[in-house]
Amino acid sequence: MALQAAAALLPPTFSIHKEGKSGGASLKDSSFFGVSISDHVKADSALKTKIEFISSRKSPTTVRVQAVATTAPTSTPATFQGKKTLRKGTVIITGASSGLGLATAKSLAETGKWHIIMACRDFLKAEKAAKSVGMSKENYTIMHLDLSSLDSVRQFVDNFKRSNRPLDVLVCNAAVYQPTAREPSFTADGFELSVGTNHLGHFLLSRLLLDDMKQSDYPSKRLIIVGSITGNTNTLAGNVPPKANLGDVRGLQGGLNGLNTSSMIDGGDFDGAKAYKDSKVCNMLTMQEFHRRYHEDTGITFASLYPGCIATTGLFREHIPLFRLLFPTFQKYVTKGFVSEEEAGKRLAQVVSDPSLTKSGVYWSWNKDSASFENQLSQEASDADKARKVWEISEKLVGLSG
Ligand SMILES: NC(=O)c1ccc[n+]([C@@H]2O[C@H](COP(=O)([O-])OP(=O)(O)OC[C@H]3O[C@@H](n4cnc5c(N)ncnc54)[C@H](OP(=O)(O)O)[C@@H]3O)[C@@H](O)[C@H]2O)c1
Repeated sequence: MALQAAAALLPPTFSIHKEGKSGGASLKDSSFFGVSISDHVKADSALKTKIEFISSRKSPTTVRVQAVATTAPTSTPATFQGKKTLRKGTVIITGASSGLGLATAKSLAETGKWHIIMACRDFLKAEKAAKSVGMSKENYTIMHLDLSSLDSVRQFVDNFKRSNRPLDVLVCNAAVYQPTAREPSFTADGFELSVGTNHLGHFLLSRLLLDDMKQSDYPSKRLIIVGSITGNTNTLAGNVPPKANLGDVRGLQGGLNGLNTSSMIDGGDFDGAKAYKDSKVCNMLTMQEFHRRYHEDTGITFASLYPGCIATTGLFREHIPLFRLLFPTFQKYVTKGFVSEEEAGKRLAQVVSDPSLTKSGVYWSWNKDSASFENQLSQEASDADKARKVWEISEKLVGLSG
């Protein structure tokens, strides 16, 4: 515990460049960030189709399709700084119903320059959330997306394409975190839930939407995948067990189904906290592989980020109550690594829209003065061979290759 507290005291950029320094198997973590309290339309087409989804986690999704006549399309290509941008940008944000995703949606909506597609699994929750932060109707559309089902991902993409909106920026933000789970749970397609949702769901989504982004005439097209310090073993917090480690990815190769293969990427025993951290490594590797494969040809900016420790979000909902009670205070007053949801939302909104953050292949972080900088990824999270391997296996698992 003392070491964990010390680890959390250090700034997120603290680099020890050697793995395994935290030592001590007694640090077994069922937590996060080195802290453990428990045991430890193209918008203006002549005919716009408005699609509304009402879903709940228990009942099947209801789809309402409504045709709405609008004015004829006008060609209004977006132009870059210095000239007026004639249309709003369109950004899809997954998991915009709470936490970082909602704060980012709010921040972008307030500029009046963005239309936000809130890609959420719970329509009513998303609607309430948008209202609660004062987003006005003309700035957002809610579309149903459950990342723990590949069918739902495909359905979302079809629905988005039918909306005829351009796609300028995609933010892969949604995530699940199950630090106290003793047994794995699984997606609709039988993948361990954290990696299946956080990585494979987003992998399929971004692959299927890449062409839309290519076709966008917006000045700066971006694909952003939210990473985490916890997946980076070059930070002290990232060294608290269980550490992220994809090993030789034999579990991923086997489909993470927990039957004939392990539910963990490295083939080991299930650990919910590690599964989350592994999924974040996959997110960061995927961003870099996208960059290598597509940046030069498409001009799309591929980026990842660590927004800071947003200790108040729903991400910690499955943690023990004592942890949830103490974690924000601890981060605020002891580690001083705490960032509010509002501040984190502004940071991610910067990665979406700031003209100075167009460099591709970057993992962004912020210093204590809230200035952005290019951070270094751990050895594993920047391993090009592993990135290619994860990409190729993921393609097979989500049905993009034979
Ligand atoms: N909190 C932090 O300190 C921290 C630090 C570093 C990185 N991050 C990253 O920030 C991102 C956002 O996390 P957060 O802290 O804002 O947590 P959060 O408030 O729990 O937000 C997670 C979002 O993901 C959605 N989601 C979960 N499963 C989904 C599924 N199957 N399909 C579609 N959406 C799903 C949730 O939807 P519901 O509203 O329906 O539950 C929620 O909107 C994550 O990628 C996380 O890894 C967070």
